Amino acid sequence: LPGAQVIVVSNREPYIHNLKDGEVDLIVPASGLVSALEPVTRACAGTWIAHGGGSADKITVDEHDHVQVPPGKPAYTLRRVWLSEEEQQGHYSGFSNDGLWPLCHIAFTRPLFRASDWETYEAVNQKFADVVVEEARNERPIVLIQDYHFALLPRMIRRRLPEAIIITFWHIPWPNSEVFSICPWREQILDGLLGSSIVGFHIQFHCNNFMESVDRFLESRIEREHSSISYGGQTTLVHSYPISIEWPPAALEAQPPVEECRRKVFERYGLSDDMKLFVGVERMDYTKGIVDRFQAIEELFTNHPEWIGRLVFLQIAAPSRGTLPAYQHLHQECVGFVDAFNQRYGTDGYKPIIMLAEHHTQEEIYNVYRAADACVVSSLHDGMNLVAKEFVASRDDEHGVLILSTFAGAARELLEAVIVNPYDATAMGEAMMRALTMPAEEQRQRMLRMREIVRENNIYRWAGSMLQDAARLRKRNSIQK
Ligand code: G6P
Repeated sequence: LPGAQVIVVSNREPYIHNLKDGEVDLIVPASGLVSALEPVTRACAGTWIAHGGGSADKITVDEHDHVQVPPGKPAYTLRRVWLSEEEQQGHYSGFSNDGLWPLCHIAFTRPLFRASDWETYEAVNQKFADVVVEEARNERPIVLIQDYHFALLPRMIRRRLPEAIIITFWHIPWPNSEVFSICPWREQILDGLLGSSIVGFHIQFHCNNFMESVDRFLESRIEREHSSISYGGQTTLVHSYPISIEWPPAALEAQPPVEECRRKVFERYGLSDDMKLFVGVERMDYTKGIVDRFQAIEELFTNHPEWIGRLVFLQIAAPSRGTLPAYQHLHQECVGFVDAFNQRYGTDGYKPIIMLAEHHTQEEIYNVYRAADACVVSSLHDGMNLVAKEFVASRDDEHGVLILSTFAGAARELLEAVIVNPYDATAMGEAMMRALTMPAEEQRQRMLRMREIVRENNIYRWAGSMLQDAARLRKRNSIQK
């Protein structure tokens, strides 16, 4: 796409500047979306438009609200958009995270729809549309819209930049049409998304659900053979593009050898050499099945008590969406479970579950991946799940076992993981047992195969195939003109 301007839009920004003890402190947020998109935006020297949510974000931008990132090695422009408390409440906490997030994930958390949130959601989408138009250097930019925070944005941009190539990627699952019909603004959401040239999902299953929803609620024509939708005189392609990570991941560069990572992590948490370490890494979110995996450890300890005292589970749970009651409850539930569990199975020098409910850097997380005997990803439902891929990418020693939920998109690709149903605690306990006793050679065979897959299907391939489809459309549009 020579000469084309690439504009990425997401709610979450890739770099947050915060004030910490009077100094400016930089963090990279815990977000699969950010870890995937960042290398791509770097590679195409694009413009990334996102909400500036950090306490020092305002003092680090220029007069156009731009800041060049990554810090120290600038490769692209981050354009920050400022949202008031009310806007964040209605758009981010309200409609996006109390409404769409539970609507799209099968986690049995009831979505909450409030008319006032919806109004703010529309207004914030409009605000971002204005910024996209402002940042566009010509009539035909390529706009990559990210996720459920911006369902209305494609249509709003299409009205103002009719020739733009707009690709909207929905990073979370799309529910079946019956579930989707719960949403009081279902038609508006579908209409908004169909302003896109392409709508992307991780897996075909979610494309099918989306097309079924459009079929049911809008006057449209679905061409299943081409996976496209004609609606209001415009055609939108609906394709699956399984997202991935950078290969090799930047966070791996500075990592010491695996033995040293292991020694450091074991020392930090007071583990003895003969112990096994399992890890879980996520945001503290009710879709991730965190309590479910703890229950599986309980099953393991009940059925194989010889592991009490010999297995430690290190759970990193980055704080997330903490103003929402559903997230506060989950936090309390996890803390309560871990306290009771450690009381029951621990001793003075032994804590079977260590939960760190705080933010960690990518380097710290890779350190932990490399120290572990197994990584447990037990999401109840997940679009893709990049922790699974990061764990695989971190293990250049070709060891370690991945225990992976069948309800994560990643399970469609990483077939050599030990696949589990997170709702079945007994079976997940047995999967843990399998990981504890898996011969080194079998671990190696499985890890080798999974590494091949992540290396091949890396983030550049994800972006590349979307941009290739975009280029085709662009060409077709110019021939038809
Ligand atoms: C998921 C969503 C992303 C979001 C991330 C972190 O991966 O698909 O859009 O950025 O969670 O959540 P947060 O609400 O902190 O941005």
